[in-house]
Amino acid sequence: MTAMVFENAKVALEHEVIDGWVAVVDGKIAEHGTGRPPERGVDLNGDYLVPGLVELHTDHLEAHVVPRPKVMWHLVAAVVAFDAQIAASGITTVFDSLRVGSDIDSRSLGPQIHNLTGAINDARARGLLRADHRLHLRCELCAPDVVDATRQMLAANRVELISLMDHTPGARQFRDIEKWKTYYGGKSGLSDSALEGMVGERLALHAANHDRHRAELVELAKANKIALASHDDTTLDHVEGSMADGISIAEFPTTFEAAAASHQHGIGVLMGAPNLVRGGSHSGNVAAEDLAHEGLLDLMSSDYVPSSLLMGAFELARRIDGIDLAAALRTVTVNPARATGLDDRGLIAPGFKADLVRVHLAGDLPVVREVYRDGQRIL
Ligand SMILES: [Fe+2]
Repeated sequence: MTAMVFENAKVALEHEVIDGWVAVVDGKIAEHGTGRPPERGVDLNGDYLVPGLVELHTDHLEAHVVPRPKVMWHLVAAVVAFDAQIAASGITTVFDSLRVGSDIDSRSLGPQIHNLTGAINDARARGLLRADHRLHLRCELCAPDVVDATRQMLAANRVELISLMDHTPGARQFRDIEKWKTYYGGKSGLSDSALEGMVGERLALHAANHDRHRAELVELAKANKIALASHDDTTLDHVEGSMADGISIAEFPTTFEAAAASHQHGIGVLMGAPNLVRGGSHSGNVAAEDLAHEGLLDLMSSDYVPSSLLMGAFELARRIDGIDLAAALRTVTVNPARATGLDDRGLIAPGFKADLVRVHLAGDLPVVREVYRDGQRIL
């Protein structure tokens, strides 16, 4: 039996933050209490002790794999470097989100995706990773090859989350076609007429593939017991579609009405922590902070900045009356864990995994000092 005690900490429990201690035995939380512990432990000097964060949708792995356009880095080295950044952000469980289906308006890894998941599996098997890595497939519904590519990924990997995306100009995130042209035109530098041509092509792919592919992917997820997320829901019709398809998470709803309907029907509303930290959506959609004010923000994801997840939780508590730190931390710990069926983590409570983060507050900025997974120090 290996035991350790943390004392003199602000311990974030499910519904309150206490000044006290936590005891860990054999990788699990054994006990916690206020004041001094029965046995002396590691003195945290008044820092916070919070549950390890659970990240559902990180876009950051690709930045390590392709650090410059057309430059592919050593895959295991990229995964290990990415993992270190994830752990240093206080994240102990991460769903690496990888794009499946070739999408004409975004750089995709193509067949390299298989080498990348191979590298993740390899690094995990060799004990090189600090965090617990799981796989999230982001399926671009209208891509001609999305269903085949998903089947191939399922055959070779354990997949635990699938999100259904539709980035057709005129739909969802790009309800306003001009917004798509600005976004993609800026990224690609293409002329107006070339963009017009692409809009036509994308609309044709939507008409040919969207409904059929969505039905096939929902069936695949159900058959393999994989949690499903919708993406960029905009209208009540989208939310009704989610309910019909057994979707449990609404990633980045773009309107207040879609977020409210999802939340009311028990679909976890997930917003980007960068949106919360920056005070708005970079693409002009509904602000995470406005949803939080109305009690509609259930989950956060670090999206493209790993360290935003912990910052987002502390900012949420600081900015929103009625959301205390315990409640804010639930959006990045137990709520995402439960939404994906992980009932063994996300809370400092007896029996839960001892995934713990020591956080020092420097002014308003939370700084990660130490990270433990299953009671073992990983950072
Ligand atoms: Fe999107």
